[in-house]
Amino acid sequence: MPRPIRAEIDLAALRNNLNVIRNTAGTAKVWSVIKANAYGHGIDNVYAGLQATDGFALLDFAEAIQLREMGWEGPILLLEGFFEPDDLALIDRYQLTTVVHSFWQLAAIADARLKQPVAVYLKVNSGMNRLGFAPDRLQAAWLEASANPNIGEIALMTHFANADSAEGVAEPMNLLDEFSQTMRVPRCLANSAAILWHPQTQADWVRPGIVLYGASPSGRWQDIASSGLQPVMTLRSKIIAVQQLHAGHRVGYSGRYRAGGEQRIGIVACGYADGYPRHAPTGTPVMVEGVLTQTLGTVSMDMIAIDLTACPPANMGSPVELWGKNVAVDTVAGYAGTLGYELLSAVTSRVRKYSV
Ligand SMILES: Cc1ncc(COP(=O)(O)O)c(C=O)c1O
Repeated sequence: MPRPIRAEIDLAALRNNLNVIRNTAGTAKVWSVIKANAYGHGIDNVYAGLQATDGFALLDFAEAIQLREMGWEGPILLLEGFFEPDDLALIDRYQLTTVVHSFWQLAAIADARLKQPVAVYLKVNSGMNRLGFAPDRLQAAWLEASANPNIGEIALMTHFANADSAEGVAEPMNLLDEFSQTMRVPRCLANSAAILWHPQTQADWVRPGIVLYGASPSGRWQDIASSGLQPVMTLRSKIIAVQQLHAGHRVGYSGRYRAGGEQRIGIVACGYADGYPRHAPTGTPVMVEGVLTQTLGTVSMDMIAIDLTACPPANMGSPVELWGKNVAVDTVAGYAGTLGYELLSAVTSRVRKYSV
């Protein structure tokens, strides 16, 4: 018997979420963001659920090639662009669209020997200060790209730093609107938070990531609870031992939990080496046999203790949901001081993942 932990990927939920985004984003086309192995879900697991997308956006050449080998003939966007001039051979061979965020990339494209012109997304730095042309250099970049025979279609792109917070997108949108006076090119601006909460950003293409997987860009499940989005990954395991505690008994490393009286607890085959957050404290919600309960004590590498008080029938082999349909990954993440993004993408390779 393999260790009982596994991650189920719900294809119907993925299809639903893509549909929700389409309906929200009006006429915009959709780049489904599947970087980081589809936010930890596995590109091979999500592929069937995202067939109705207009394109896939990712970072790694290996992931782009995987997609082509799986039969995807539509657009693929490299969100960080290319890393050295030699990468252009792969862009040409696999017909990838690439972000261009620096002048050295424009020069490399001009120098390359390509079979066909490459489609580029010129990225403007609208305040994040990670990648992108400074606003006062964008016009020059666009002129250079337009004059480059190795460049085909050109689009304008940015990534918002504050679409999920009160600060919003007003400042970067003002900046982008200035360029639209002169640069008549398609625009691709919105990530999940902007699609949901700033419809003025939807433009020609949108780039949803986390919402496709049914988690909240803000980290708060309540913020998307009425959106129709559904959780895609359910992390399941089983109880592999039951302990009867007496008053004063302590649980796990450092004995951080101490029983106040008689208490049954279950030991679940799931720990931080599976991707469950070590910082999740006592009290983090978990479901056993369909009953909501809580974790107890320190999360170990391979195991975690849970309270069985609310569920007397629970026993060896009882099913446990760590997160998924009933326990939002955002909620677990909130207890652990992080976001659903991190938990989903950090599920480790020893957890068997499969689509249902
Ligand atoms: C450039 C870019 N676009 C889109 C996304 C998707 O973001 P989200 O998952 O918040 O929708 C990301 C993810 O970080 C990104 O880096």
